[in-house]
Amino acid sequence: MDGSNAELDQERYAAFLMASLPALAAAPVARGRYGCLDAALAAAPREGFGVELGVWRGRSLRRSARQQPWRHFHGFDSLVGFPQDGRPDWQQDFAIPAAPRLPRNCTFHEGFFDQTVRRFAATATAPVALLNLDCDIYISAHQGLVGLAPLIAPGTAIHLDEAVNYDTWLFNEMLALFRFLEQTGLDIRWIARSGRVRDLPETLRFLEACRYPRWADDVAAGFGRPAAGVLVPRGADWPAVPPGLGARLAARTAAHHTRSQSRADCDPEDPIAPPLPAWRRWLARLR
Ligand SMILES: C[S@@+](CC[C@H](N)C(=O)[O-])C[C@H]1O[C@@H](n2cnc3c(N)ncnc32)[C@H](O)[C@@H]1O
Repeated sequence: MDGSNAELDQERYAAFLMASLPALAAAPVARGRYGCLDAALAAAPREGFGVELGVWRGRSLRRSARQQPWRHFHGFDSLVGFPQDGRPDWQQDFAIPAAPRLPRNCTFHEGFFDQTVRRFAATATAPVALLNLDCDIYISAHQGLVGLAPLIAPGTAIHLDEAVNYDTWLFNEMLALFRFLEQTGLDIRWIARSGRVRDLPETLRFLEACRYPRWADDVAAGFGRPAAGVLVPRGADWPAVPPGLGARLAARTAAHHTRSQSRADCDPEDPIAPPLPAWRRWLARLR
């Protein structure tokens, strides 16, 4: 499957988001940069590998591996950054000259996920108990999840480092998770969030108005990106959404693919919204 989601059933994605985001918003808040990752580690079954998709300099993988020295962790990274997916967002340069130093209970797999993850899944001797998804973009998260699917089952704990609350969150890790759930018939029970969660209608309103808040203002107002959950068998299907919501999501997705949706591409000459004054940021932090 390629990076295009033209064939995606936007009604279904909207239904998943409308059902799942309130549950995420009701999950316990995990404080600190790695609070949600720690929650996923704590929820993971004792038996099984830890997998990190997107290792970069190894900070989060070292932390996980030291926290659970009895577990073996497999870290995957290209060392040259993202694959070319033609998408407008997330153009950061993550190239590094060599694999990072990692604890002894880690194995590093160099290369793009479409090759390395499939190779790993074909020979792995244990299921994936913990998956840290930290590869930012849709195509990578999608390839990683699909490649690992034979090793993933109800009970697998997942941490998404870029789950929600940024201008293109609808089109990256969350979208890959949704497609994985559709493919496997599983669902996710959210166990931790990093702060407030912006819902789908509000996200769409901001995107349609080209007014998605600045990252710094969102952080000050208590919105955070990471989230953690545990995969579960799907019970009742996600209820259908009000007419029109799927079409609005489809329109934003199309805009994203034509480079007109990410916050930076919206209208770079015209600041989206005035930054919050310092006193309001201070007040927001107290909430
Ligand atoms: C945000 S960084 C990871 C940060 C790291 N987990 C940490 O805590 O420091 C994202 C990494 O994902 C890697 N990546 C993204 N897509 C990839 C793909 N398809 N194959 C291999 N590596 C990929 C990039 O090379 C980059 O190093």
